[in-house]
Amino acid sequence: MSQIFVTRRYRFCAAHRLHTDLLSPEENWAAFGKCNNANGHGHNYVVLVTIRAGTAERMTILDTLDRLVTETVIERFDHQDLNSDPAFSALTTTGENLVVVIWGILNPLLPAGRLHKVGVIETRDNYFEYAGAS
Ligand code: NI
Repeated sequence: MSQIFVTRRYRFCAAHRLHTDLLSPEENWAAFGKCNNANGHGHNYVVLVTIRAGTAERMTILDTLDRLVTETVIERFDHQDLNSDPAFSALTTTGENLVVVIWGILNPLLPAGRLHKVGVIETRDNYFEYAGAS
């Protein structure tokens, strides 16, 4: 059976600082460079959420997805400092971790098996994606 996927795009702006208390200041700088700047910096994040779609109920699932992403991801992170979010209390706010956090927020809220992939564009050249544990 063929499988159709649909991707919706969302946006939020947030600040962060790449830093981990597990490393010394020098090691943090070596690992993260200017992204370790103590004052932090911001990104215009783009979140791409891909779900398995069926034509018949397309509008219903997309309306549901828009509402869920807006309420649980965009309103949570937009114009916030990601380092202050509880999801990152023990995680560095890298794009790799952010995309997994967003998957973890959305996957339990959608029908089982519906979420296919989450992507996060952090900068012009950095894109992260996660499709769940396999
Ligand atoms: Ni950054």
